[in-house]
Amino acid sequence: MPKKTINNLGDLTGKKVLVRVDFNVPLDKQTGDITNDRRIRAALPTIQHLLGKGAAVIAMSHLGRPKGEPSADKNLTMDKVAARFGELLGRPVKKTSGDVIGPEARAAALALKPGEVLVLENLRFDAREQKNDPDFAHAIAALGDVYVNDAFGTCHNDNDASMVAVPADMKGKPRALGLLVAKELEVIDGLMSNPKRPLLAVMGGAKVSDKVKFIKALLGKVDHLLVGGKMTYTFQKAQGVSVGNMKIDDKEVTAATDLLPQVGKKIALPVDSLCAKADDLTSIQVVERAIPAGYEGVDIGPKTVAEYAVQIQKAGTVIWNGPVGWFEKPAFAGGTKGIAEAMARSKAVTVVGGGETAEAVEQFGFDDKMTHVSTGGGAFLAYVEGKKFASLAQIDE
Ligand code: 3PG
Ligand code: MG
Repeated sequence: MPKKTINNLGDLTGKKVLVRVDFNVPLDKQTGDITNDRRIRAALPTIQHLLGKGAAVIAMSHLGRPKGEPSADKNLTMDKVAARFGELLGRPVKKTSGDVIGPEARAAALALKPGEVLVLENLRFDAREQKNDPDFAHAIAALGDVYVNDAFGTCHNDNDASMVAVPADMKGKPRALGLLVAKELEVIDGLMSNPKRPLLAVMGGAKVSDKVKFIKALLGKVDHLLVGGKMTYTFQKAQGVSVGNMKIDDKEVTAATDLLPQVGKKIALPVDSLCAKADDLTSIQVVERAIPAGYEGVDIGPKTVAEYAVQIQKAGTVIWNGPVGWFEKPAFAGGTKGIAEAMARSKAVTVVGGGETAEAVEQFGFDDKMTHVSTGGGAFLAYVEGKKFASLAQIDE
């Protein structure tokens, strides 16, 4: 049975809608400023829809991973997030300070009128949030008449009260998906169950071990899996090919060794690499596979970019997770930009997942040319792997 979405809620005049969003945005380490507001923008259609139906909205999210006392994690208060949310929404947004849930939050929620928006303080400022605590959940649940989950990036967290215990407590009241989560699920479900073929995956990033389950899930579905990024060298090490100065854990090599039987079949490795001495730009070389002593691999090479681009043009569907080089450095961004550009030009269904990959695509200005850029990092990987999310089980059918 498909899940209820906010499109099925009808008129909401006079209702208070509790919306779990994922406003866990990247922050500048020095200033605490938001460096990318994509996750806030992605939630706007849901918020606008609810306000348009006459609701008052109480939005809640975590931000970062605060450890203990909120006073020790002041940079993780929701102040700047709420301010940006208000700017993007084009209307004032109220924000509570003090306890996540306490007299102030209750009074603010009670006083909220149709068309008004309130943001609660960082949910993780209360340790009970990540313990799926029923009392904490009950206190939050009491603020709302309707529950909406529009936090795709956090849907894989099975132990977060705002994701699981709050909607569980609200059983009997309407509990629906927001437009963002509904779209993410629809796109990824379509991709995995009935993709336009050939189905191609491009995988980058550093750690094979983190992604073994994801890669194995993909190998069961895809026609080809093209490897790039630092994990290239983990595979090379597993094959006994020199990786120069790169430090690669044994655990990583073991994970790659497990996948070696598929190399040359479904899995393709780069035929060439850009390498450099640390980040000394004068030392850049293109090599075919083996990385010389003293060097590190920093990007896929031009032949690989060209080969992968040809595959992307021929594909029916392309799913991309993980930058294929050290794209934060312009000199090493060619591979990642090349993949993004090839996907942007391709007629295939193109889906990008993972925080860094999404940032890269945005940085190069190709995000509008993709079929879908997921707001999920860990959630995207887990959903593709086929994990069943406890958060989604709490939403009405
Ligand atoms: C994310 O960015 O992965 C989500 O917001 C969840 O955050 P977490 O990884 O700290 O649980
Ligand atoms: Mg995460």
